[in-house]
Amino acid sequence: MDIVADMDFAEMDAEKQYRLMYAECLGDRPGAKALLLWMESAGFFTAPASARHHLNTPGGLCRHTINVAMNASDLCNTPAFMAVNAKEAMVAALLHDLCKIGKYRAGDNGKYTYDDTRLLGHGEESVIIAQQFIRLSHDETLAIRWHMGAYSGERDWNTLGKAYDACPLAMLLHFADMMATHCDEVTGK
Ligand SMILES: [Fe+2]
Repeated sequence: MDIVADMDFAEMDAEKQYRLMYAECLGDRPGAKALLLWMESAGFFTAPASARHHLNTPGGLCRHTINVAMNASDLCNTPAFMAVNAKEAMVAALLHDLCKIGKYRAGDNGKYTYDDTRLLGHGEESVIIAQQFIRLSHDETLAIRWHMGAYSGERDWNTLGKAYDACPLAMLLHFADMMATHCDEVTGK
């Protein structure tokens, strides 16, 4: 992405980086402004990425999402994914974890607990939230829906394989999420 290559980008805080990426990739999509306002009011920029694992600190979800977007951008330049639409990859990455917003509660001990009262699934809920505001392409929808890969459970494996056969972007987003979680965000290496 052009903005990531900008010298000043690395010096910005995570919220500013996210807003710039969002504007570049979703700025011309109807409903995107309303979606970003909802994300802000619902706590996207202050939420952790997990309760006990990667980036379990305030702002972790935003940082994780940027890491996924960066990896997605890199993967678009690899031979296996040359056919993937890079803008769609960025949109899917920037929205893949909307389902996590509002689910982490900070305890008195400073640790988070995860509390899902909406019960819509993981990738499924991110798609549902995004589509309350904007239209997603079919590939973006598949990618967000299946970004958990085999972690979504054995009952899904048959459909998951078909989704990855049909949509390279879906597999790319899963890889980008894994790379962020298990390469970029591992502490104490
Ligand atoms: Fe993620």
